[in-house]
Amino acid sequence: MKFFIDTADLEQIKEANDLGILNGVTTNPSLMAKVGIKGEAAVMNHYKTICELVKDGDISAEVVSTDFKEIVEEGKKLAAIHPQIIVKVPMIKDGVKAMHWFTANGIKTNCTLVFSAGQAILAAKAGAKYVSPFIGRIDDSNWDGVELIAQIANIYAIQGYETEILAASIRSSLHIVKCAEAGADVVTSPLEPILGLLKHPLTDIGLAKFLADAKSFK
Ligand code: E4P
Repeated sequence: MKFFIDTADLEQIKEANDLGILNGVTTNPSLMAKVGIKGEAAVMNHYKTICELVKDGDISAEVVSTDFKEIVEEGKKLAAIHPQIIVKVPMIKDGVKAMHWFTANGIKTNCTLVFSAGQAILAAKAGAKYVSPFIGRIDDSNWDGVELIAQIANIYAIQGYETEILAASIRSSLHIVKCAEAGADVVTSPLEPILGLLKHPLTDIGLAKFLADAKSFK
């Protein structure tokens, strides 16, 4: 399973990248706004900086247009920033049309705002490289986000779809483990749940004892 970090914060991206386990970054307009990026030039420049920071990783850059022609124009501009850019397109009718166009024209896409298996089927049919089910937001609505990952994984296996399942809207370390178990190809997570995977009290207790005992033979 690939690990992406879900943030536009360069310090956090660097920290995850330095761990050596990072395969990419996802952003969205809310995450860009959170780090104070304003204006087209600044947005473009920020994506370029992220691509240069995470070499070889897939960097999702989201369109903010909702009309087919405008999505295509915006996506072309985003894809031209750097070869690592994946154009993130919302699961709407014009988005599906645009993803099909991007696929036919060699531009890779990440289909975002996916909340059902039916939407995931459409994303695969449109040739998206990634499909992003938002599991945290599904849990917030009293449905089971991880169950949706398992359902999509089953459908994609039966149908032989090549689109990769990118579990998004991750809220906890347990979400990451459960998504791995359910067949996600990628998890995109904020930094904290990634670092949370390191933690186990028995590791801390065991290490403290080893370090204490090591003093006796130093
Ligand atoms: C990533 O691609 C999504 O935009 C992101 O994971 C959404 O997360 P949220 O539900 O925490 O905003």
